[in-house]
Amino acid sequence: MRDIQNIVILTGAGVSAESGIDTFRDAGGLWEQHRVEDVATPEAFARDPDLVLRFYDMRREAIQTKEPNAAHRALAKLDAEWSGGLLIVTQNVDDLHERAGAKRLIHMHGEHLNAWCTVCDMRMPWIGPLLDRPACPGCGAPGSLRPDIVWFGEMPYRMDEIYDALGSADLFVSIGTSGAVYPAAGFVREARAAGARTIELNMEPSQGSYWFDEARHGPATRLVPAWVDAMLDQA
Ligand code: APR
Repeated sequence: MRDIQNIVILTGAGVSAESGIDTFRDAGGLWEQHRVEDVATPEAFARDPDLVLRFYDMRREAIQTKEPNAAHRALAKLDAEWSGGLLIVTQNVDDLHERAGAKRLIHMHGEHLNAWCTVCDMRMPWIGPLLDRPACPGCGAPGSLRPDIVWFGEMPYRMDEIYDALGSADLFVSIGTSGAVYPAAGFVREARAAGARTIELNMEPSQGSYWFDEARHGPATRLVPAWVDAMLDQA
C-alpha cells in the first residue's frame, strides 16, 4: 500500500447521530407528516415558504443545543496533527465539526447557521429564526433571506475543490453516510480512480459499500477515534 499523504474524509448525518441530531433516513425522515425531501426543495419553498422556514428555524435552533461527540473530536485531532493533505467534506449542515476544532472543512450542503439573501446574494452567519422575515443586513431587502442550505436539485458548494482533493487522495474515508445521495455517493469512485485506498466507517453497510476496500461497522464514536489513533500512530 503506497504511503498515505493526502486524506479525504466524507461525513454524513451518522457522525452527528450520537450528538442527538436525527439522521435523515434512520429517523424515517419525517417532519410534521412531511418527508424531509419534500421540505428541502426550492419548489417547497416557493409553494409554502412558511412551512420550509419553520422547518429550518426548528433545526437551526435544535443544533445549537447539541455538542460535538468523540467522532467530531477525533477528526479535529487528525486535522490538527496530520502533516499531509487533509480535507473533511461534510454533507452535514450542523456546526459540530467546527466546534470540535476542525479547520480543513467544506460544507457541501450549506450550513444551518448561515442565511442567504436572494436579492444581494450575500451569505451571513444567522442563529435566529427566518420565519418573521427579517430584512437583509446587507441590502435591507425585506423578507429576502432563505436558509443557506443546498436543497434537492441545487448544486452543492465548492465541488471543484472537492474533486481536486479526491483526484490527489491516497486515502478516502466515508463516515456516517448512507451513500443514498449524489454527488457525495460517487466520491468513493472518484477516489478509487485516483488510486486511493477507500474505507467505510458506518453503523451498517451503506448503499455504496461495494466500492470500498474495507468497511467497519459500528457507532462513529467508537470507530472514528480508533481509526484516527491508528493513523496518527503510523504517521
Ligand atoms: N455511527 C455511525 N453511523 C451511523 C450512526 C452512528 N451512531 N447512526 C446512523 N449511522 C449511519 C446510518 O446507518 C446511515 O447509513 O449514518 C447514515 C445516515 O444516513 P442518512 O440519514 O441518509 O444521512 P446522509 O447519508 O448524511 O444523507 C445524505 O441526504 O437528505 C439529504 O442533504 C441531506 O446531507 C443529507 C444527504
